[in-house]
Amino acid sequence: MARRNVLITGCSSGIGLALAVKMAKDEQKRFKVYATMRNLAKKEPLEEAAGRSLGKTLEIKQLDVCDEQSIKTCVNSIPDRRIDILVSNAGMGLIGPIECQTIDEMKTVMDTNFFGLVRLLKEILPDMKRRKNGHIVIISSVMGIQGILFNDVYAASKFAVEGFCESLAIQALKFKLQLSLIEPGPVVTEFERKVFEDGMKMDLSAADEETAEMFTNIYLKNYKQIFQSLGQSAEDVAEHTVKIILAENPPFRHQTNTLYTPMTTLKYADPNGDLPIDTFYKMVFHHDKIFSASLNFIKLLRWRSRKSFDLGKPSQ
Ligand SMILES: NC(=O)c1ccc[n+]([C@@H]2O[C@H](COP(=O)([O-])OP(=O)(O)OC[C@H]3O[C@@H](n4cnc5c(N)ncnc54)[C@H](OP(=O)(O)O)[C@@H]3O)[C@@H](O)[C@H]2O)c1
Repeated sequence: MARRNVLITGCSSGIGLALAVKMAKDEQKRFKVYATMRNLAKKEPLEEAAGRSLGKTLEIKQLDVCDEQSIKTCVNSIPDRRIDILVSNAGMGLIGPIECQTIDEMKTVMDTNFFGLVRLLKEILPDMKRRKNGHIVIISSVMGIQGILFNDVYAASKFAVEGFCESLAIQALKFKLQLSLIEPGPVVTEFERKVFEDGMKMDLSAADEETAEMFTNIYLKNYKQIFQSLGQSAEDVAEHTVKIILAENPPFRHQTNTLYTPMTTLKYADPNGDLPIDTFYKMVFHHDKIFSASLNFIKLLRWRSRKSFDLGKPSQ
C-alpha cells in the first residue's frame, strides 16, 4: 500500500503530539505525517518525541486553524496538496458560569473548535472530493453528545462539530470519503491543566452566590478527581485513533473511554432527554458523596489493574 499523507492540527502537546509521533513511528512506515501547530516556538517537545522520524516520516509545519491564509500556505506546501488523512485535533476548553465569561471568550472557543474545522475542510475537502479518496478524522468529545455542568460553551462547540459532521458524512459517502468522530472522555493533557487554572483564576463576582459556590465547591473540587479516576492518557487516545484510521470500515463515531460509555448511553436511551439530565442532577446535587466514593473506587480498580499488569512483566 502507498504511504498515506496525514495532516494533524494542534501537535504542540497532548493528543495531537501523541498521535503524530505514533503514526510517524509506525513500523510498517505507512504514513507521512505533517504535524502542524500554530506556534512553531512550541515545537521542541514534538521534535524530542519524534526522535529519528523527524525529517523522514514526520515534518513540522505552521498552521493556525483560526487563520485561513496559514491553512492555505500549509496545504500548498505539501506535494500535490495531497492529504489522504486529515486529523482535526486543535481545540480549547472553557469552563465556568456563563455570567462570568465574555462573548469574546465564547467566540474564541467556537472559532477554534468549530470554525477551525470548517476552515480546514473548505481548503482540503475539494481536493479529496476530486480524488474520491480521503479520511477526515475529527477529535470531538463525549461533550459533543452530552452537555456537562459548567461546560456550556465548550459542549456547544463540540455539538456544532457533531451536527456539521453528521450532515457532511452523507455527502462524503457519495464521494467515497470517510469521516470519523473520535469522542474521548477526560484526557490528562495540557487542556485539563489550562482549563482548571483558568477556572481557579476566574472572577466570579458577576455570578450569584449559589452559582459561584456550586462552581467552586462542587465543580472545581471534583475536577481533578474526575481526571484522575476516569482520565485516559493522550497516548491511549492516539492508539484508538490509529485503529480507526486503519479500520477497513471506520465507524462514524468512536468513544475511546469505556468507563464513560454508561453516561452517554443514557442520552441514546431516552428520546425525551430527561434521563441524562436527571441522572447528572442527582449525581451532582443529591448523591455527591456516592459519586465521589465511586470515583475513588474506579481509581483503585485502575491502579490495581495496572499493578497486576506490571507484575506480569519479566524482571530486569
Ligand atoms: N483533554 C481532554 O479532556 C479532552 C477530552 C475530549 C476531547 N478533547 C479534545 O482533544 C483535542 C486536543 O486536546 P488535548 O487534550 O490534546 O489538549 P492540548 O494538549 O491543550 O492540545 C490542544 C492543541 O490545540 C492547539 N490549538 C489551540 N488553538 C489552536 C489554533 N487556533 N490553531 C492551531 N492549533 C491550536 C494547541 O496549541 P497551543 O499549544 O498553541 O495552545 C494544542 O496544540 C481538542 O479538540 C479537545 O477539545 C480533549
